[in-house]
Amino acid sequence: MIAMNKNVEHFYDKVMDYEGKKLAVHKDDAGKVTALNPTCTHAGCTVQFNAAEQSWDCPCHGGRFDVSRKALTGPPTIDLETVFRKDNFHEVDVIKS
Ligand code: FES
Repeated sequence: MIAMNKNVEHFYDKVMDYEGKKLAVHKDDAGKVTALNPTCTHAGCTVQFNAAEQSWDCPCHGGRFDVSRKALTGPPTIDLETVFRKDNFHEVDVIKS
């Protein structure tokens, strides 16, 4: 179980370390939070958030993923792994799937 709280607010749209794991965490305009495994599915580099395009971009070979995890362009053909998705991130403990 991963228990999250308001302290992670400043980690949105970044790759964060949490309990020894890296998470790519994004909060959409409706408040839904999506946490992805930031390991690029092409060759294992770590994606970074692209605020202008609202995507997770890989610095190694230009792969790009949308904020929900889908591979958009570049070498990756497999989507990023979803760790969890929650509508209200602040009021629940999150059980890792
Ligand atoms: S490792 Fe990400 S595009 Fe190649």
